[in-house]
Amino acid sequence: RNRNAEPIRIGILGAGIAGLYAALLIDYLGPESGMTYDILEANPNRIGGRLYTHRFSDSPNDYFDAGAMRYPKIPWMKAIFSLFEFLNLDGPKSLIPYYLGDVRGNNIRHFNNISISSARLEAADARGNFDPFSTKVDGLNDTINNLMGHKIDPFKKMLTEDFQTGWDALMSFDRWSMRDWLALPADEFQRTYPEQLIKYLETFTSSTGLFDCALSETILDAMDFDYQPEPEWFTIQGGGDVIANAVLDRLTRPVQVGYRVTAIAPVFEPDCTSPSALKVTTTSADGPTDTEYDHVIPTMPLGCLRMVDTSALQFPWELQTALRTLHYDSAIKVAVKFKTRWWEKLPRPQIGGASTTDRPTRTVVYPSYGIGSKDATMIVSYTWAQDAQRIGAYVKGHDCASEQVLIECIKRDLADMHDIEDMSILDHLDHKIVNWYGDEFSNGAFALFGPGQFSSMYPQVTQPISGMFHFAGEATSVHHAWIIGSLNSAYRSVLEILIHEDNQAMIKKLMSPDCPFSRPKEIDCFLTTVQVAIGQSYQPSQSTSN
Ligand code: PHE
Repeated sequence: RNRNAEPIRIGILGAGIAGLYAALLIDYLGPESGMTYDILEANPNRIGGRLYTHRFSDSPNDYFDAGAMRYPKIPWMKAIFSLFEFLNLDGPKSLIPYYLGDVRGNNIRHFNNISISSARLEAADARGNFDPFSTKVDGLNDTINNLMGHKIDPFKKMLTEDFQTGWDALMSFDRWSMRDWLALPADEFQRTYPEQLIKYLETFTSSTGLFDCALSETILDAMDFDYQPEPEWFTIQGGGDVIANAVLDRLTRPVQVGYRVTAIAPVFEPDCTSPSALKVTTTSADGPTDTEYDHVIPTMPLGCLRMVDTSALQFPWELQTALRTLHYDSAIKVAVKFKTRWWEKLPRPQIGGASTTDRPTRTVVYPSYGIGSKDATMIVSYTWAQDAQRIGAYVKGHDCASEQVLIECIKRDLADMHDIEDMSILDHLDHKIVNWYGDEFSNGAFALFGPGQFSSMYPQVTQPISGMFHFAGEATSVHHAWIIGSLNSAYRSVLEILIHEDNQAMIKKLMSPDCPFSRPKEIDCFLTTVQVAIGQSYQPSQSTSN
């Protein structure tokens, strides 16, 4: 191909934040890059993927984020805050505080049928009452923080000081699950935790069954939610899909909505053994179409990608295994539109933050937006893992009796947690449930790898296939379940294309300290390749982050 004459055609599959961000980077590089793109989105109803805001009405706070809803300002999340700035979403009207916990300590911990406020729990900890819920669990001889800390703090410390060193240390234990790590004498003091204690810690710090996932995932989670020094948390006023729409507004090309990719196949010139392009077949309301691209960036979750016929690409067995087995977690958010913001009017008001319970409801998220307003919509239950799988059994459609059964169960939990006697204050006007494993356009909530998967399979989905097929999406980053993972993966995929095209000027432009889009630390492992590509040693800039 004559590079100077013909554009480099890029097919971006999926208009979630990974796909939109890849397009934004290509637009930033400008026409000089020689690249042009299409964005194909299978969902006929919306863009944004797991940035998904459901609005019960047009009233400003009558919404909830069924997908991404909160953004901690920690060093490795820098790129998302740079993006907010770029999109002019960083003003105080858009980027508002998110209360991870409530300021007054009124958030409730309700376990073993006992309700205790978070402030009172802290006091119990300080008094040395380590079993405030009377569970009599064997080995509960310290605070949850300390019991977890003994096992995970060494990793947290390393990751905070230098992400790459910490990551390497984590990877040397990648075949361990979190429960292995707690059960076996592997830390410096050779502590072994009894089975009951492991389940107790899992119940309070995560979700049912999640400690069976990779140790690395639990450590990263713990850092995201409990980074030291404590970061500020933010949410986007009006809902997370504002971000996706703001990116869309800035793109030079539209998204083709309702175009489902059904097959991707190599195209061969006569007498050539390596493909010259990739043919992407889509179906839409207009019927099937074939389009050829020089590069494809599949950003859809791996479960969705598996529904695309890629057999002609003859993926190696290890890659096929990775695409089939890499573990995704479940998540469900149940939102209810009440008549009033009853939670803010209780004797002990709940102003933002979240309450937790061992009941099916598990986590109640009080909105950090619209505090004191008339809009009374909130997330009454947010679940992951087995807790979500079980809730999923009742998510059968808005008007189905099973959803009513679920809502009634949640109301009972809410009443017991908040000590509500008059159930009529919980009367509701509407509800909406989003079950991410039940959605054909996500096929899982977010990647949450099992033991051993990072070291054995992650490499398969973070390198290009035939130099033309560039995986993106949060699963193909180290920061699973966060927007930053999508951004980092999209950056990597665009960089891979530039390296393949040997476009040194554009590699420099993308990696320059002047570029408004931060370079992710997690791509440093292939910086050597980049150095070769640009023919000089590359100095990481001051402004870069993890
Ligand atoms: N980032 C998501 C949240 O804040 C999901 C998540 C789940 C993140 C589990 C880490 C661990 O809720």
